[in-house]
Amino acid sequence: MSILTESPAWRALAAHSASGQPLSLRELFAADPGRFAAFSVSAGPLLLDYSKNGVKRQTMELLFALARQADVERQRDTMFAGERINHTEDRAVLHVALRNRSTRPMKTDGRDVMPGVREVLARMRAFTEAVRSGAVTGHTGERITDVVNIGIGGSDLGPLMVAEALKWSADPARLRVHFVSNVDDAHLVETLRGLDPARTLFVVASKTFTTQETMTNAASARAWLVAGLGDERAVARHFAAVSTNVSATTIFGIPPGSVFEFWDWVGGRYSLWSAIGLSVALYVGMDRFEQLLAGAHGMDEHFRTAPLEHNMPVILALIGIWHVNFLGCTTHAVLPYDQYLHRLPAFLQQLDMESNGKRVDRDGRPVDYATGPVLWGEPGTNGQHAFFQLLHQGTQIVPADFIAAIEGRHALGDHHRLLLANCLAQTQALAFGKTEDEALAELRAQGMDSDAARRLAPYKAFPGNRPSSTILLDRLTPASLGALIALYEHKVFVQGAVWNIDSFDQWGVELGKQLAGRVAGALEGGSPLPGMDGSTAGLLGKITGTGRQQRQP
Ligand code: F6P
Repeated sequence: MSILTESPAWRALAAHSASGQPLSLRELFAADPGRFAAFSVSAGPLLLDYSKNGVKRQTMELLFALARQADVERQRDTMFAGERINHTEDRAVLHVALRNRSTRPMKTDGRDVMPGVREVLARMRAFTEAVRSGAVTGHTGERITDVVNIGIGGSDLGPLMVAEALKWSADPARLRVHFVSNVDDAHLVETLRGLDPARTLFVVASKTFTTQETMTNAASARAWLVAGLGDERAVARHFAAVSTNVSATTIFGIPPGSVFEFWDWVGGRYSLWSAIGLSVALYVGMDRFEQLLAGAHGMDEHFRTAPLEHNMPVILALIGIWHVNFLGCTTHAVLPYDQYLHRLPAFLQQLDMESNGKRVDRDGRPVDYATGPVLWGEPGTNGQHAFFQLLHQGTQIVPADFIAAIEGRHALGDHHRLLLANCLAQTQALAFGKTEDEALAELRAQGMDSDAARRLAPYKAFPGNRPSSTILLDRLTPASLGALIALYEHKVFVQGAVWNIDSFDQWGVELGKQLAGRVAGALEGGSPLPGMDGSTAGLLGKITGTGRQQRQP
């Protein structure tokens, strides 16, 4: 047994959950008319309603006790203080400095990082304004009309998600943005189809500038550009780079004026606030990018200063811990009722699963409790016509976050009212369901005869008690988006703090990378490597034709 599962706070929660508490959501709401007020919290432009989760006041008290026992506040302060909390990589975790809009210094290793952060932001502003205004042109003097961001993981998902979310504020007649991540050539080929090399700017975004997919795509993009413009020197005007590895960007041929630096204390999946956001800034303008930072800073201040009981990221994290560790839920759905947020689930998959998909604690010991759930989701209302059947009537309990903006970005007919109605209705149906008796009564009222109604009623019943939280944004703006993303970042932090895991390393992606290099060599050589397992060797043989040749008489 680990220290965590033997701890008083953990055991109290386990006993609380084993005692069959809490009651059904119908009973909880009936017993407490003030439940919405008691189980909701506001922070800046966001409201979190967590009343439709099966928690009582006592449950929350026990969860806050768990957070206190884990010293979450001290751990949080340690992150803000720039200490090397990513201990397996011996790095500080200071993405909050990238969006620090106060005059407070933020230090790591005794050095204030803010002058460097501000300098890069100023360079980003100058560069983006020059490209957007047409002051900087391509090699042949033509205006840049298309930006292609080449990156993967944190160097793609964050900027892509934000660019999609802020699409309404962009002017596609002036500048379009595209994202290429997959090493599958279809991604690059399809993106470049129809683009004019003379008007295209590539932003190669890679923290390490060694990632196989990004380097392969960047090399092919470069070849496309040089072939299109017939001049190797064009690379200097059509490529920018964002990286911590400035020497590698120089070797690629990108002039220092088009290289935007960030630092090893910025984790890949936390990097959209850094120059990794360059493509977003090019697309929507630097003012909006800085509003995004300001919104995130507002959430940072809330997280840093609000008492645990009123702290939105802490509460969201603890509700998740209740589901994962004490109710045995293994997945978590994120359901934005906002088409502009359609890439949010994909972004959160990396944020949450790469951060908290860990099996050993900070002392390297295997954990004996569940850590991060499988996170997934799609925008509503589309999901309702796909997987919501399982959410309502399946055998698994899938806690869900519903996210919606009170005010829509457009005023087209009845669309936004219907969108919000569906969002709220789904949380209602999940929470309160419909009993078999209610289903029966409904069928009878529709004129169905008793026998037929009795046969059909079990299928039409909804068990309810399916937990969900609802996050409302005043309106989708750069600032509210920044706050929303920061909310989830800090939620992930708090969960990792309680689970006593390193949320900032990602060793689990390394083995596949290593093996891919060896398999690529075997594919090139056309034969399996000595000692290769039978399945991989068989597949390799099928792909290269060696298996077929060997079978021929
Ligand atoms: O997949 C692992 C990972 O290291 C992510 O953490 C990171 O976001 C991604 O690869 C891309 O890395 P880079 O920005 O160095 O190309």
